[in-house]
Amino acid sequence: MLAKISETRKDFDDDLSKTTDIQSLEEVRLKYLSRKGLVPQLFENFKDVSRVEKKSVGQALNELKNYTQAKFDEAKEKFEAAAKNEKESELDLTLPGRMKTLGSRHLITQTLDEMKFIFKGLGFSVFEGPELESDYNNFEALNFPDDHPARDMQDTFFVTPKFLLRTHTSPVQIRVMQSMKPPIRAIMPGKVFRNEAISAKSYCLFHQVEGLYVDTDVTFAELKATLVAFIKQFFGKDVVYRFRASFFPFTEPSAEMDVWWQPKGKEGRWLEVLGCGMVDPNVLINVGIDPEKYTGYAFGMGIERTAMRKYGIDDIRILFDSDIRFLKQF
Ligand code: PHE
Repeated sequence: MLAKISETRKDFDDDLSKTTDIQSLEEVRLKYLSRKGLVPQLFENFKDVSRVEKKSVGQALNELKNYTQAKFDEAKEKFEAAAKNEKESELDLTLPGRMKTLGSRHLITQTLDEMKFIFKGLGFSVFEGPELESDYNNFEALNFPDDHPARDMQDTFFVTPKFLLRTHTSPVQIRVMQSMKPPIRAIMPGKVFRNEAISAKSYCLFHQVEGLYVDTDVTFAELKATLVAFIKQFFGKDVVYRFRASFFPFTEPSAEMDVWWQPKGKEGRWLEVLGCGMVDPNVLINVGIDPEKYTGYAFGMGIERTAMRKYGIDDIRILFDSDIRFLKQF
């Protein structure tokens, strides 16, 4: 029996030394260590061992069992570690890295930032007002009486009979004049809403920048000079522009400013970029500013329209589509 044990141990060492991977190791396990394997079989035979031999054989059997199990565990660990290493080395270090895509400012924001930059250089500060406005601020204080036809001109989204989505940024003029004393020199950018049929030229939502200057002795000549300085800085000094007499309830006299738009290979035309005028004395009275002492000018322009003119875009809707292929170009 002792001879058989040491033979088994030798065979086991032999077989184990020939293993090359987890599979061949598993065969060794089945042959020696599994329930029907050679080592348990030797234990089976133990009962037939004579009394005198029992002690030494028992010892030898236990040793064999511990030895083979330990050797097997060791080999298994070795093969598993190798397999893991192999997997890691499958990492392809030559693959290009994953690029992080950076966002950028929307064309509207870029245009507005540029406008703010220019007007700040001309001494204007920036104010904002709410998009949900009172009928009073949006119309009444701006000298639109209840039945004024200009109220029809601006198709309004009313929220309640007294509140609406502002149709222009001019109500912010009222807020600024109510909360500050002249001299006031401010621009007021923001979203405005009109219930219009959507087309290449108009959208139900767009952005405006309002401008206001109130002080003693403000003149129309200053208004013109300020707007010309702006338009040249914005479009380039060769921009072709004109002022046209116009009407707004809250300015008197009023004008509109057009710039010449010349698309390549197509017929050019005048494009209206802003409305402007001298603040109507009635508006000054509404906000408690003495029109005998102060005068002011105001202007308002559409950001989309101005950006479209500058970048040669002919459909306003594309500015609201969030199509990355379009936006990436700016
Ligand atoms: N609020 C006018 C509009 O939306 C523009 C404007 C602003 C005109 C200020 C004159 C003075 O068309």
